[in-house]
Amino acid sequence: MAKHDSSRRKFLKGVGIAGAGAAIADHLWTEADAEEQQAKPNVMSGEGTVVLNVNGKQQTARVEPRTTLLNAMRNHLEPAVTGPKLVCDMGTCGACTVLIDDKPVYSCLVLAVDAANKKITTVEGLGTPEKPNAVQAAFVEHDALMCGFCTPGFITTISAYLKKNPNPSLAEVREACKGNFCRCGTYPRVFEAALAAAKGQQA
Ligand code: FES
Ligand code: FES
Repeated sequence: MAKHDSSRRKFLKGVGIAGAGAAIADHLWTEADAEEQQAKPNVMSGEGTVVLNVNGKQQTARVEPRTTLLNAMRNHLEPAVTGPKLVCDMGTCGACTVLIDDKPVYSCLVLAVDAANKKITTVEGLGTPEKPNAVQAAFVEHDALMCGFCTPGFITTISAYLKKNPNPSLAEVREACKGNFCRCGTYPRVFEAALAAAKGQQA
């Protein structure tokens, strides 16, 4: 299966727990504590510059430490990279899937600063309308989308998977796609397209 970055999920959970602890501790602060804190610069706030290597192009973005890679690509790059879609923003649907160093990850669960200087590939970087990759072409040929929101994630996941397993069975394709959800229920055509792309690549 396409392994999505579970360590990121654990990390964000950890941040949530730490955040809750901090919120409780806030109530125990004295006025003097608050004044002392105000006098100190908060090194974790504000924006910084991050260099993102997206689809072979180095771009800089001004982001906060908490900005996700998905948010940075869609809202802080010029021009914006909007192939990866924002749907759940919590690591459950796969619409935001990108490749980091050729591995599929949910970009809504990766901090932009953690992706700095890594090789990021989005659906735009896999092919172009004039020269689609085998999976993109197969999706068009097999009409493997309805609203299209899940499509960039599926194409990215499947493109990476076919590099690992160029001759998959239907069961293996289904397993590879289990981190990607299609609310329109286009699964049969998605799997059909994946198998056709695999066949086409071998021909
Ligand atoms: S938007 Fe990232 S997993 Fe759903
Ligand atoms: S085509 Fe609409 S969510 Fe998949």
